[in-house]
Amino acid sequence: MATFDLNSGATAPVVDEVELVDLPVIGAIPRELNGVLVRNGPNPLRGRFIGNNVLDWWSEAAMLHGISFQDGRATSYRNRWARTRRWADVHDPDAARALLDTNPNVNVLNHAGEILALSDGGAPLAMTAELETLGATRRHKGLAIGMTAHPKVDPQTGELMSFRVDWKKPFLRYEVTDAEGVPGVDVAVDMSSPSMMHDMAITATHSIFLDLNVGYDFSMLSRGFRMPLRWRDDHRARLGVIPRHGGEMRWFEIAPCFIQHVVNAYDADKATVVLDAVRYPKYFRLEADGFVFEENPPGVLWRYVIHLDKGTVTERQIADICIELPRIDERRTGRSYRFLYAAEQPTNTEIRGVVRYDLRSNSIQRYRVPEGDQNGEPVFVPRSVSSGEGDGWLLVCVYRQATDTTDLVILDGKNIKSAPIATVPLPRRIPAGFHGVWLPKS
Ligand SMILES: [Fe+2]
Repeated sequence: MATFDLNSGATAPVVDEVELVDLPVIGAIPRELNGVLVRNGPNPLRGRFIGNNVLDWWSEAAMLHGISFQDGRATSYRNRWARTRRWADVHDPDAARALLDTNPNVNVLNHAGEILALSDGGAPLAMTAELETLGATRRHKGLAIGMTAHPKVDPQTGELMSFRVDWKKPFLRYEVTDAEGVPGVDVAVDMSSPSMMHDMAITATHSIFLDLNVGYDFSMLSRGFRMPLRWRDDHRARLGVIPRHGGEMRWFEIAPCFIQHVVNAYDADKATVVLDAVRYPKYFRLEADGFVFEENPPGVLWRYVIHLDKGTVTERQIADICIELPRIDERRTGRSYRFLYAAEQPTNTEIRGVVRYDLRSNSIQRYRVPEGDQNGEPVFVPRSVSSGEGDGWLLVCVYRQATDTTDLVILDGKNIKSAPIATVPLPRRIPAGFHGVWLPKS
């Protein structure tokens, strides 16, 4: 596996928390863009990473970044570590016992009137749009002990579909929470071993699970690895499909692979489910000595068509683009859709450039990012509640190597190849992170 100097360039941590107001803007911020873009990612509490591969990066403390927009202005930027027990152990030991023992450094969810910072399976942490930590969830008590960082919200019913991988049997729970946060479905799914499930998908009628070739191997911890994850040659990759409100989980075998992120899924008809995802033909595969990972190839856009009646899956690559961190116009989650947005992977060590892929015309638009610079996930914001799919903006954090700072770039969602509508050149870096959310001003 490639190693990086995590302490320099786009991934380098910041050492402090700041608040900046009345940010300079190049171009014109749309007046309809009222709200906060929140980004989440790992930032070591002592300001330096230990180790230099991707698993050393993933496990560090959660830091959230918020850029606020109002009436055509970029009104503020602030960053805060999540106030967890782990944070207090370094910065405020007297407070540690009162704080939640979790590390929600992956994603942010806005659901049922609550904003939650999410980890990959740990307890969610409630916070404000100003990034102040509130503590354990109050609106989602059914999910308080742990949940995926990639639950899915049905935009029509408001339901929240989520899961939790456990390290002991039955290894997987599937949960549905209603639009008010009240738990409904809670299903134990019996698995032969714990799988690395980072994401899931929904359609209007089903939820889809990924039991693929990356799983847990705890013997790796004694060999010096910080996370016990590796490719399993002997595991049969399969997609699990369960009716949304519970019932039989059916498993469909597919070619060996790993999927970190799905793009979207939908019911093509009563017997056919379509799943689009970023697929890797191998991932975290150890070399024969058991101490070093092979190189991960870049991810590609892949389509699975699941034939529920025949019990089969057809799969193929959709487009010849290497991508990660895919997003859609989330008003189309679980429904047929036309556009996807993603960060481009020109090589397996770079996230550089943004693509907008039109599934109807199979055409690509690109926002290009110069060599040396790096960008994060593009977050789509609709122009209005009633605007059509894709009518809105893409918000992207772009790290500029020459100045060691981050630009927040606002792209026209319909035409990302043109110059940005507006750029907010921050005077400092937002370190490369994972995922984020747009919180519209309510
Ligand atoms: Fe993720």
